[in-house]
Amino acid sequence: MTVLVTGGAGYIGAHTVRALRDSGKKVVVLDTLERGNREAVIDAELIIGDVADQSLVAKICRENGISSVIHFAAYKAVGESMVEPEKYWSNNVAATEKMLDVLTDQRVDKFVFSSSAAVYGTPSSTPVTENDPTNPESVYAETKLAVEKLLGSLSQNTGHRLRSVSLRYFNAAGASKDNKIGEDWSSSQNLVPRVMRALLEKDFKLEIFGDDYPTPDGTCVRDYIHVEDLADAHARALDYLDSGGETLVCNIGTGSGTSVMQLIDLAEKIAGQKVPYRIAGRRAGDPVSVFADVSLAEKKLGWKATRELSAIIESAYNWHRTHPNGYRRKN
Ligand code: UD1
Repeated sequence: MTVLVTGGAGYIGAHTVRALRDSGKKVVVLDTLERGNREAVIDAELIIGDVADQSLVAKICRENGISSVIHFAAYKAVGESMVEPEKYWSNNVAATEKMLDVLTDQRVDKFVFSSSAAVYGTPSSTPVTENDPTNPESVYAETKLAVEKLLGSLSQNTGHRLRSVSLRYFNAAGASKDNKIGEDWSSSQNLVPRVMRALLEKDFKLEIFGDDYPTPDGTCVRDYIHVEDLADAHARALDYLDSGGETLVCNIGTGSGTSVMQLIDLAEKIAGQKVPYRIAGRRAGDPVSVFADVSLAEKKLGWKATRELSAIIESAYNWHRTHPNGYRRKN
């Protein structure tokens, strides 16, 4: 039995491919390499192509006896999704629908979907549970929710049923412990890679988006989860479906919140140097505090995060220090 991982050359996808290989699973990766990296795919076959290419997806399923799919392939930049919405609807939703058509024909019946806590928008209370209302505040988040809903319908199909787990990630961060895979800071707007850049790149100035929020230190609170914990969650989600589990939507976070300032303090301790930053205005659309209720993941998937925030920062620091150009070599 082989698992098809779409977008397996991307940041979270590549860590998941390794977790699956470590647990003895056979894996085939399908990735356009538009935003992924060939070098990130370790110990698995990489097929370069698009999930919307129905004959290709059918061929991969037939030739490899695919019975389950983990679907990462999507665009994920919130800002870009507001400027080029059609690109997001087309790649994240229409292409996924095309692939799901083929998977249904090919009798694939297990599907793990890379969703996002962004579907909650600004949560009405924390910790956020899966039963809280969804309120996407970006086109990116809309596309994630749309696919979740489509998967909900497919699990009710009277013909071929597709059971799925949609994992709503909180803030993924960090790199692999052995320093082989990580994120490319040039293509990320997220806090951890930017803090690393401020530590390691001369003249890069980090901006803190607001220090007047109603939190103990005035900065926003988020739930940072180690990318290797996140990868393990996918392996658990597959095990859950393999043992007959029903369609599920599940938060994947640590359950505890960290403020921007707390994260910077820890990065300074680990790096042994100050992080240069300036306080800027609030970023539009930033909720004050978001962290997960993780009890459902523990109950249904038997999964819980095991890595500390310090492991996130240490691994990210190690990775960026040695890979300032991502996977491209330093000239
Ligand atoms: C991110 C993703 C979102 C994803 C969510 C997980 C983006 C833009 N957003 O949101 O798609 O679903 O995680 O739930 O990728 N910050 C600064 N300075 C910076 C960068 C960030 O102060 O240069 C602050 C932000 O204001 C925020 C926190 O750091 O309070 C985290 O920001 P970020 O890493 O961008 O993640 P989210 O906005 O939480």
